[in-house]
Amino acid sequence: PRTVALIVAAGQGRRAGGETPKQFRIVAGKPVIVHAVERLAALVDAIHLVVGADQEGEVRRLLSERQIASFTMGADSRRGSVRAGLEAIAQSGGADIVLIHDAARPFLPREVVGRLLTALDEAAGAIPVLPVADTLVRGSDGAMGGTVDRAELHRVQTPQAFRFAAILDAHRAWNDAEEATDDAQILRRSGHDVILVQGDERLAKLTFPEDFSRAEAMLPRSTR
Ligand code: C5P
Repeated sequence: PRTVALIVAAGQGRRAGGETPKQFRIVAGKPVIVHAVERLAALVDAIHLVVGADQEGEVRRLLSERQIASFTMGADSRRGSVRAGLEAIAQSGGADIVLIHDAARPFLPREVVGRLLTALDEAAGAIPVLPVADTLVRGSDGAMGGTVDRAELHRVQTPQAFRFAAILDAHRAWNDAEEATDDAQILRRSGHDVILVQGDERLAKLTFPEDFSRAEAMLPRSTR
């Protein structure tokens, strides 16, 4: 099957602090987005990238045309950015399988992709998840409410793997007024099952300032 990756990098990354959006910050000697592209390049047939309007020049400088099949302008929301990228893939000949990935996750263990692709034999979608280690409680105004059973909760990562036609249809059918922080919920809404596979702590998304030093410590060791 023809497997492509869609990397979304059009966010501003405000929670990470600093002037530079997190996907362009240098970690272990390279911009975060370059790590993400290099990891995926070894595993897929083509990589499509979604970038912010003000970032295209920088991205083209960092990554060669040879590495990237298409550059698409992002939207105000992650969901809108993914939709734009899926349409770009459709226009450039489509695919059988798409891995939708955040640029802000610089390390991608190959085994995770293996688990995702195997799961797609059984379902139109598969996502990597991790268990929740801490106790979870509801609370408001500093007062504790009920405890939530953590055994049935998972932390969701990317890449998320989909049969391309199914996720494209699901995105086209989604109500634009509603937000979605990942694509698996969009696929589920259109009636498909999504399989959970084991994620990996090394896939953690860089969101807050302290995430960068953790990634720095992890990347050189894990590339050996
Ligand atoms: O903001 P968040 O951490 O959820 O972003 C996850 C990924 O989605 C990042 O790689 C970010 O660049 C991308 N994104 C996007 N377009 C947006 C918002 C986020 O491509 N409007």
